Amino acid sequence: LVAALSPKPLAGRRLLITAGPTFEAIDPVRGITNLSSGKMGFAIARAAREAGAEVTLVAGPVHLPTPRGVTRVDVRSAQQMLDAVMPRAPLHDLFIATAAVADWRPASLSEHKIKKDGKKVAPSFELAENPDILATVARLPEAQRPFCVGFAAESEKLEHHAREKLQRKNIPLIVGNLGPATFGRDDNTLLLVDARHSRPLPEDGHPCDKQTLARALVAEIARRLHSGA
Ligand code: CTP
Ligand code: CA
Repeated sequence: LVAALSPKPLAGRRLLITAGPTFEAIDPVRGITNLSSGKMGFAIARAAREAGAEVTLVAGPVHLPTPRGVTRVDVRSAQQMLDAVMPRAPLHDLFIATAAVADWRPASLSEHKIKKDGKKVAPSFELAENPDILATVARLPEAQRPFCVGFAAESEKLEHHAREKLQRKNIPLIVGNLGPATFGRDDNTLLLVDARHSRPLPEDGHPCDKQTLARALVAEIARRLHSGA
């Protein structure tokens, strides 16, 4: 009912969104991951669909139901997420990166399970840096580049770090999230940071549930998409 009655500011627009953690394999039974729940990304995908968008959700390993009407592509590693995103990005108007992409992966994958085998010393791993999916999309030529929105989950100096990421990744909007108290929680507030301003969402700064927040964020992004700013 809510969906049927609400305005459709994203009608005819196509959204590509990443969500959840990535999982970087060490061997066939182990890996490196993080505690991202994927809830915010899924809530945004749902809100964007309600707002009339055609939505493609590229999801890392999470146990969440696919929002109604959303096309879902499941991936595991950062490289797989990049491979799913890059060919699709030029076909979309909007790219929202909510995924907590693992920054590093084991430099080499062991074909078989690493065994203790009576070894006296614990194994150690070399790490290699993962590709930056958001920055890679933001580097597409203008004609192929969707409007890019990033997230920044920080434990301190939220605005400072968010603005640094805005510049480093060369994107028009970053959504800041101060944790870890808020990570995985259902109530939250966000900070919108663009090249000129920053302001809380919701505007009164009171925490609200993720679906309400996602709807407000989608409305805000739709406004910016229309004004091209
Ligand atoms: N991101 C991405 N690919 C990566 C790392 C991050 O697409 N390999 C995206 C995230 O989805 C998010 C934004 O970039 O939208 C910021 O992610 P974050 O982890 O906060 O930034 P990093 O550049 O990885 O910096 P750091 O973790 O050191 O704070
Ligand atoms: Ca990171």
